[in-house]
Amino acid sequence: MQLADRLTPLQANVFADMDRAKAKARAAGLDVTDLSLGSSDLPTPAPVLDTIARSLQDPATHGYLLFHGTGAFRRAAAQWYERKFGVPVDPETEVLPLIGSQEGTAHLPLAVLNPGDFALLLDPGYPSHAGGVHLAGGQIYTMPLLAENNFLPVFEDVPIPVLEQARMMVLSYPHNPTTATASIDFFKQAVAFCDQHNLVLVHDFPYVDLYFEGSPPPSVLQADPQKRVSIEFFTMSKSYNMGGFRVGYAIGNPKLIRALRQVKAVVDFNQYLGILNGAIEALSGSQEAVAQAVETFRQRRDAFVDALNRIGWQVPRPQAAMYVWAKLPDPWAINSMQFAIDLVEQTGVAVAPGSGFGKSGEGYVRFALVHDPSILETAVERIAEFMKSKR
Ligand SMILES: Cc1ncc(COP(=O)(O)O)c(C=O)c1O
Repeated sequence: MQLADRLTPLQANVFADMDRAKAKARAAGLDVTDLSLGSSDLPTPAPVLDTIARSLQDPATHGYLLFHGTGAFRRAAAQWYERKFGVPVDPETEVLPLIGSQEGTAHLPLAVLNPGDFALLLDPGYPSHAGGVHLAGGQIYTMPLLAENNFLPVFEDVPIPVLEQARMMVLSYPHNPTTATASIDFFKQAVAFCDQHNLVLVHDFPYVDLYFEGSPPPSVLQADPQKRVSIEFFTMSKSYNMGGFRVGYAIGNPKLIRALRQVKAVVDFNQYLGILNGAIEALSGSQEAVAQAVETFRQRRDAFVDALNRIGWQVPRPQAAMYVWAKLPDPWAINSMQFAIDLVEQTGVAVAPGSGFGKSGEGYVRFALVHDPSILETAVERIAEFMKSKR
């Protein structure tokens, strides 16, 4: 059997290697503390679960759902957005429901790129951004994110020949994995740059609510209120702890929304209506659970960063998202994958190697704050013993 060449770039997957290392640690009897995946351990809010449970009993929710049937969800998303960011959104033409935001960002390149066109992506960045470009037969130009630039890309560094063949740029702030945030001025520059070079500006915005200090993270559409070049992706996975339910939405330029809808119409029939009903409850009801989740992540962040600093591993206190992005000390800085594999196999503490997010992620590891402070502190004790034994 011969499979498609486009699978080749999808084969390297450090998360599969980490999965094997975790299994090995479990088989050896270690108690695994998994800080390698950004899957929230917090429960979905009860009113959301109640709504989904009621929907389950209603046979009218059991069939295929065409786009026209998603109107109530699109209106809830548009109103949620307008309340938060003050930019008007037309729920008919500017909102698209998604089966998780990853699905949307991975399908969008099929609607934007012709084979060989470039997409400008962040490095390090979320792996499915690159995966979607590969599936669409596009080329990737990675924009390195460096600590000295506050993990923001330098647009002027993109070579002209690349720009001439580029059709889209993907940003995502608060950023996974670096936790960096971006200002509205940065987004204004991005919009001007994309306008100038005829690029679609994609903003993946899962951590819209997860910020701990200062003003709320801006939406790219605040910098492009006419939605001339931009499309933004939102998820219910983070703010409302609904990762397993697979529901998100895109808001943006109507031509892009329609194009993505055309791609998706070939692929799926939308999320189950009962889950969309739950998402409407989440977006329209009390936001108290969101505030509580932020408080929980803040406490975990403080406990974890303080514990790392106590063992002499100095890491910055993240302002947003649910991760800690830590520069590895020597001798591990040259191989984050080896550090992650040795650490989990010897201590049971699983972390994500920075190299899994792109080559500029090498030298770092990402900790996901998906456990309570006491478990995080015990993990740091195990990390300290591991490091001492290797020095
Ligand atoms: C940047 C980014 N985009 C998308 C996702 C996935 O979101 P969803 O569950 O909506 O597919 C994540 C999850 O961690 C993420 O960090």
